[in-house]
Amino acid sequence: MVGGRSDAGIELRPRDCHSHLIWGVDDGARNADESIAMLRLLVSAGARTIVCTSHMFPARYDNDVATLRRGFDALERARAQAGIDVALELGAEHYLDEGLRGRIVAGQFIEFGPERYVLFEAPTGQHTPVELMAVVAELKQRGCTPLLAHVERYPWLRGEEGAELCEDLRAAGARFQVNRTVGNANVPGKGPRGQFIAWLREQDWIDEVGSDLHRATADGRPL
Ligand SMILES: [Fe+2]
Repeated sequence: MVGGRSDAGIELRPRDCHSHLIWGVDDGARNADESIAMLRLLVSAGARTIVCTSHMFPARYDNDVATLRRGFDALERARAQAGIDVALELGAEHYLDEGLRGRIVAGQFIEFGPERYVLFEAPTGQHTPVELMAVVAELKQRGCTPLLAHVERYPWLRGEEGAELCEDLRAAGARFQVNRTVGNANVPGKGPRGQFIAWLREQDWIDEVGSDLHRATADGRPL
């Protein structure tokens, strides 16, 4: 669980709601062996449920619901064969571009959990994405809960204007996911990301924690 002290790290919860475990579909796991090693790593870190949220990112990782289901089924078979005791769920990390709303309307999205979360990431530039509130509204209208991935990454969510946007997002029904602390990354209070995380914690606005694991290493990054 996330600790109460402001200097405590961000720790995984029993459900890891952001990971790139399905092999061969994005910049995450490259083969079955790597997926299994990643699974073991997360289980040893305390995960009881892992949501597999491969990228659905047009022109970069062109996955659709069918390709991710197939990849997930193969991963589930490999997990059972390896005898690893953890529950896997299928989700996706949807990329917020001008087409996301249309893809949602067309049913090209994957929700998970009793919350009916739909995890989505946004561009990390300086400006608030134009489609942000429209996508949140579209998902809410369908009874889903929009879950913004690694909220600590977006400069447009920080500062005074960012604070207002956070309030607007929450009022519209969006929820926030933060990546776990690894090494010096995302340490509450340190650097722009850490300061934002400490502020979120004060507001009690850290709804979910994810590993965002891409590799079977402590920091889990693809490179
Ligand atoms: Fe991710």
